[in-house]
Amino acid sequence: MKSLYLAPLQGYTNYIFRNLHNKYFGGIDKYFSPYLRFEPKKEYKKSTFNDLKPENNEHINFIPQVLGSNIQQFIELAQLFKSWGYKEMNWNLGCPYPMVTKSGLGSAMLQNATEISQILESVLPKIDISISIKCRLGFTNDNDIFNVITELNKFKLNEIIVHARNAKQMYGDKPNYQIFKQIIGLSKNKLAFNGDILQIQNIEYLTKLFNDDIDTFMIGRGLLKNPFLASEINGKVLLQPEKLKILKNFHNELFDKYQQKLEPSHLLTRLTSHWEYISFFFENQHKTFKKIKKSSNVNKYLTSVNEVFNNS
Ligand SMILES: Cc1cc2nc3c(=O)[nH]c(=O)nc-3n(C[C@H](O)[C@H](O)[C@H](O)COP(=O)(O)O)c2cc1C
Repeated sequence: MKSLYLAPLQGYTNYIFRNLHNKYFGGIDKYFSPYLRFEPKKEYKKSTFNDLKPENNEHINFIPQVLGSNIQQFIELAQLFKSWGYKEMNWNLGCPYPMVTKSGLGSAMLQNATEISQILESVLPKIDISISIKCRLGFTNDNDIFNVITELNKFKLNEIIVHARNAKQMYGDKPNYQIFKQIIGLSKNKLAFNGDILQIQNIEYLTKLFNDDIDTFMIGRGLLKNPFLASEINGKVLLQPEKLKILKNFHNELFDKYQQKLEPSHLLTRLTSHWEYISFFFENQHKTFKKIKKSSNVNKYLTSVNEVFNNS
């Protein structure tokens, strides 16, 4: 049996999305939060923890993700999450954006495997929650991962989820399957694969390529495009009319939940960014997205959405 995870996607997979995904589509074994950056030290706003609180994640298997390298703050967050009943916390070593990497954080840390090791050596004895890591193959090349895996072998981690690209590639080019395959035999910790899983065939291909050694896959944009993907990989088959009905109900509840939180212009921006992906679900994705995107107010948006669903 495969384990399927929803990838953290800042701006998309907040608790509202995670809970509704679980309610309408399911098939996900772990839902990860987008990262909480704990460095440089600043007073957290009260709202910072909303997305991570147990009461907002009680119906899903939820893993909070953090980003930073400060040992004391790492420990404090781990203790906080433990006190909330969480058993695992995920450490982001993959973020490719300069606002993060310029401070030596996220994927920039992959260049310095011994620093990663030193941080874990200081943190792990002081915390009572297991740590998993989400990383890339490297910062500017695909080979940093070899040193990183060797260092991580010194520790007992819950798992290491590898997005099989380097940070310079951002989200372009193909994932490097061969390098991922090479680290399977090297890692003492469990590995999970992430990168460009868009359809069932991708999982079948990778499972074969990795000789059945990998049974855990994290999916991001593939689930934004087709939220049924995880349940389909698990063998659940639905006919298109049924899917459309579910998708429409999901959309309507997502709309209602965001409407309670956001003022109209933010509401439209937020929902339109989802349509950039979900329009792939429809026959003519470009036409669909264009139609939604040009809605200049909430009423026009709702009219366009109704037309898209009614004409599909
Ligand atoms: C808009 C966006 C936001 C993301 N935010 C995060 C994040 O907060 N934490 C993280 O570890 N990865 C983040 N990622 C990376 C994804 O989790 C994932 O590793 C990447 O999209 C590759 O997987 P996919 O091809 O299945 O989407 C983000 C990616 C995108 C496109």
